[in-house]
Amino acid sequence: MITRLQAEEVRELVYEVGEYIRSERVSFESSAVEHKDTHDMVSYVDKTSEKKLIAGIERISPASSFRAEETGMQSTGSPYQWIIDPLDGTTNFIHNIPHFCISIGLQFNDQLVAGWVYEICTDEMYTAIKGEGAFLNKKKIEVSKTNALHDCLMATGFPVRAYDQLDEYLQLQKWMIENTRGLRRMGTAAYDLCMVASGKVQAYFEPGLSPWDVAGGALIVEEAGGKVSDFAGGEGFMENATILATNTYIHNSILKEIHRCMHI
Ligand code: IPD
Ligand code: CA
Ligand code: CA
Repeated sequence: MITRLQAEEVRELVYEVGEYIRSERVSFESSAVEHKDTHDMVSYVDKTSEKKLIAGIERISPASSFRAEETGMQSTGSPYQWIIDPLDGTTNFIHNIPHFCISIGLQFNDQLVAGWVYEICTDEMYTAIKGEGAFLNKKKIEVSKTNALHDCLMATGFPVRAYDQLDEYLQLQKWMIENTRGLRRMGTAAYDLCMVASGKVQAYFEPGLSPWDVAGGALIVEEAGGKVSDFAGGEGFMENATILATNTYIHNSILKEIHRCMHI
């Protein structure tokens, strides 16, 4: 397992790289934007952040494996795999809108054992180690205990690339709008998950994600007492591209609506 000292060193590294991203935002020019795909943008800031995070983690935890958004897999055969989104919320960053984050999840033998999500605009550092609870700026956090759907606020992310299930997803949104306090679209999956973990929203759901979007935040939700599944209700949220994270109490009610509206 990761030691307390290593976890603290990763935390310091994330702050340091967060400071780099914050300072680049001041002078960032839209001419620096590159297009990986339609609606999928990147810049030197994402790439440099990732390089700095990998180099720092290699010093803290030598010979680790990595799965990072911009550089892909780097396997050393180690049971430790660091799953990195160097800038989650790139569209917000480019448009100079809060929120954007660094997200890191650590797996040991394919199980999530630690997570760090740093929201750079609000200076919020969310952390978790398996079995030790979840924290925001070192203070323990818990999911909300609200269970009446009409008192619950939802978060989601709109599909940005694959639109084959868009109509079904919009049906689900219609149900959410009619039956809950409403929907928020933060623009960063990692932060959406931390909103559930810290009790600000009661649920977050999104189709079409990648492991680096959710690895850090999913463990933070679980350690805050919440539940995370894929849209089928199983544990494949890292690989199946769909995620539902809730305060636990409303999980089954929302799954039921997902199944009514969408082909899973
Ligand atoms: C995106 C954000 C966004 C979500 C997208 C992700 P990126 O990640 O998490 O909230 O809706 O699906 O791709 O591209 O900013 O790292
Ligand atoms: Ca992302
Ligand atoms: Ca990213």
